[in-house]
Amino acid sequence: MENEKDPIANMANLSALIFNSIENLNWAGFYIYKDKELVLGPFQGLPACVRLQLNKGVCGTAAAQRRTITVADVHAFEGHVACDSASNSEVVVPILIDELIYGVLDIDSPVIDRFDPELVSFFEDIVALFKKTSF
Ligand code: SME
Repeated sequence: MENEKDPIANMANLSALIFNSIENLNWAGFYIYKDKELVLGPFQGLPACVRLQLNKGVCGTAAAQRRTITVADVHAFEGHVACDSASNSEVVVPILIDELIYGVLDIDSPVIDRFDPELVSFFEDIVALFKKTSF
């Protein structure tokens, strides 16, 4: 991303990089905040839900609360939106630009409790790098 500012191009390559370099993932990608909803952005994995409401599901909650949410077992998360039935654990990192929500990075795994604090912090670093290069 060093010489590329385009956010869509960078999100596309980041989702491919994450999906192909980390084991046991079934979905990795971005939702972009538009017209008070989260709209599907660049991703890797099976086709997914196109629009997510703020405050609902893991993505909507992370965006509304502006904090990273790690869910060890999505079936125990109230309001979880199941796009791919293979997903068992999930982490969502919000992307804030000038304190406004731009979107989220969403990663799903078929393995329960796949995301340890080190991996979560790595995804937060990726979002920080994305913000630095693309905005
Ligand atoms: N599970 C998410 C929806 C998006 S998909 O996982 C790609 C949620 O509950 O927000």
